Amino acid sequence: MPPVRNAVSRRIRGVLSLDDFEIRAKRHLPKPLFGYIAGASETNASLRHNAGEFQKYGFRPRVLTDVSARSTETTLFGTRYSAPFGIAPMGISALMAYRGDLVLATAAAETGIPMVMSGSSLIRLEEVAAVAPQSWFQAYLPGEPNRIDALVDRVAAAGFQTLLLTVDTAALANRENNIRTGFSTPLRPSARLAWHGISHPAWSIGTFARTLLFHGIPHFENSYATRGAPVVSANVMRDFGKRDHLNWNHFQRIRDRWRGRLIIKGIMHEEDAAIAVGQGADGIVVSNHGGRQLDGTLSPLKVLPSIADRVGTETVVMLDGGIRRGADIIKALAFGAKFVFVGRPFLYAAAVGGQPGVLMAADILKTELHRNMALLGVNSIEEITSDLIAEV
Ligand SMILES: Cc1cc2nc3c(=O)[nH]c(=O)nc-3n(C[C@H](O)[C@H](O)[C@H](O)COP(=O)(O)O)c2cc1C
Repeated sequence: MPPVRNAVSRRIRGVLSLDDFEIRAKRHLPKPLFGYIAGASETNASLRHNAGEFQKYGFRPRVLTDVSARSTETTLFGTRYSAPFGIAPMGISALMAYRGDLVLATAAAETGIPMVMSGSSLIRLEEVAAVAPQSWFQAYLPGEPNRIDALVDRVAAAGFQTLLLTVDTAALANRENNIRTGFSTPLRPSARLAWHGISHPAWSIGTFARTLLFHGIPHFENSYATRGAPVVSANVMRDFGKRDHLNWNHFQRIRDRWRGRLIIKGIMHEEDAAIAVGQGADGIVVSNHGGRQLDGTLSPLKVLPSIADRVGTETVVMLDGGIRRGADIIKALAFGAKFVFVGRPFLYAAAVGGQPGVLMAADILKTELHRNMALLGVNSIEEITSDLIAEV
């Protein structure tokens, strides 16, 4: 085995659960980068809600149901997926893992799950569409019609069929933890940053130096129709644009222009869910951005039942935030989600294990789900209903 692959397989050896990737990523990544992924905003209250809410519920398994024919497969928007979960959009993935977005997208395609490419990414969206055309694209858009139109057209021209608009970022979040660990956007080269790099040679050589050598300084490639600023430039803040101007009229504009599937991510209130449906959204992702935006926002699992009650028969309700186990997926589905997304663990897996790491993470989650379905007494994803769980 070549030395790089050898090192990668050593790094993921012994991983048994998604949480194990986090422990390894903490060792592998420079502190500011690990902190950027792991952290949330202000007091991390929402991050804690996300994990804690799943622990409030337990199972009421059914028995003697013959589960020998069970399958984790499900159909979403007419596509058959191998499991009811996908990879959530995560910005600057290519700084964490070499060619991160491509690694995540190709592993997802191989495993038969959707991957959502982030709009804050450092690899051109056209490259991802070329190698994994079934990927979805996530956009952050400002309330500026010209910029909206141009990006929507670019995403369509690249061949993406599913556009996901994230709507919980009207302002930059207060990520104090980033400042404390030395992470900033733009990245400011400093002696401290250099030391973090030097003290993590596997990342410095295998990801950072390799990227500089073969692809140059990473730029924000997909914020708009044209190439954005390099990650080290003060201009990255300009790329944020007028996101605080974004409103439902802009959403309507996008709906009128975009012929493919349109999904809104970051819905936490049933009234907004109803407006989204009224304006033609094909689906919504109930999400608090992994606790990374408004600190104190309730956990998505907590608000899911009221949203599913309101719009679950009219649109596809999905959820992300805090899912780490097959058991968590079951709870979200029982509460009315049709599909879920998982963020941080997949990025940790890509960082420490590249494509094999992401495949392994997906396999762990799928295996847990498959096993739990047997123990719960169900054969299909559709059989997961609210009577199978209760408050502990
Ligand atoms: C490092 C990182 C970067 C993220 N970047 C984006 C992004 O560019 N666009 C977006 O809509 N959400 C982004 N998110 C939020 C995720 O899509 C998702 O909502 C969240 O991570 C789910 O929570 P989980 O990490 O607990 O699974 C990011 C999350 C992380 C951890």
